[in-house]
Amino acid sequence: MRRITLDEFIIANQNLTKNASGEFSGLLRHLGIASKIINRVVNKAGLLDILGVDGSVNSTGDDVQKLDTYANDLMIEYLKNSGICAGVASEENETFIDFTSNSKIRSSYVVVFDPLDGSSNIDVNISVGTIFGIYKRLSHEDRPLSQNDFCQRGNELVAAGYVLHGTSTMLVFTTGDSVNGFTYDRGIGEFCLSHPNMKIPPKGKYYSINQGYSNTFSPNINAYLNACASKNTALRYIGSMVADVHRTLYMGGVFLYPGTHSHPEGKLRILYECNPLSMIIEQAGGISINEKKQRILDLDVNQLHQKSSIIIGSKEDVEEVISFL
Ligand code: AHG
Ligand code: MN
Ligand code: MN
Repeated sequence: MRRITLDEFIIANQNLTKNASGEFSGLLRHLGIASKIINRVVNKAGLLDILGVDGSVNSTGDDVQKLDTYANDLMIEYLKNSGICAGVASEENETFIDFTSNSKIRSSYVVVFDPLDGSSNIDVNISVGTIFGIYKRLSHEDRPLSQNDFCQRGNELVAAGYVLHGTSTMLVFTTGDSVNGFTYDRGIGEFCLSHPNMKIPPKGKYYSINQGYSNTFSPNINAYLNACASKNTALRYIGSMVADVHRTLYMGGVFLYPGTHSHPEGKLRILYECNPLSMIIEQAGGISINEKKQRILDLDVNQLHQKSSIIIGSKEDVEEVISFL
């Protein structure tokens, strides 16, 4: 069966979305190209002497892996060279990067991304991914970018997506009207539409949390976990949020990363992880909130690396968690 490619899909849908500019479509296509190159390296990482840590620690205190750095540099280079991205903020960089200074680039869009999510899993060949969000810049195109261009609420995202380097490679994204999944066909070097209009099941059979930290969770979260145990609910936890959320999107269920002693606000970053994945799950019919029952996409963002607790997944499963909060 002939499947439509990512490029064809973007062109065909350009007039259907409210973000119909050629600039925006071009940005999505460039993200697709960068993803293919990251995929090529992730897939043969063991052959390239690119496994393991690079010896540094990022702004959130995580050990940086060589592949984190590779994927980060590549995303920055591709987005800069696209000529249609004003600047980026990355999980791996302390501050944002303005592409418009000392260049002719004029663009209305900025991109936020986690270049490689789940990177502690790289060396053991477990799924990792790239997560991204696209915002319209707030500052005038003739002015330098400011932090406010990036620190926008999730409900201002014009697009969000991720690439999952799993048993197959998938790109899933939304521009705010549906969620569509594309599988990478290595033979032709293209992402092809394989999962149109994805919907999250209203209820799933798995809950997903790092239960090893349970003695540092709140009593309410522990009450929910006890309820799961009393019902023999099955647990799945990969330790790559992008893969855990992808499974949740596909099969239903709930993923939780609550506050812990070492990370009282949770560990996951609002701009690079929580917001893009929340937009996707909401567009697919699910719910995403924090432990205070606030919608993730409505949270004020004051810092580039701000964190939040998160409870994300099927409507009925998240509502069950809410009944314990
Ligand atoms: P990253 O690799 O981008 O630093 O993100 C890792 C995150 C997320 O992917 C995952 O859900 C979580 O860290 C796992 O944390 P724990 O090991 O604390 O469970
Ligand atoms: Mn991450
Ligand atoms: Mn990362």
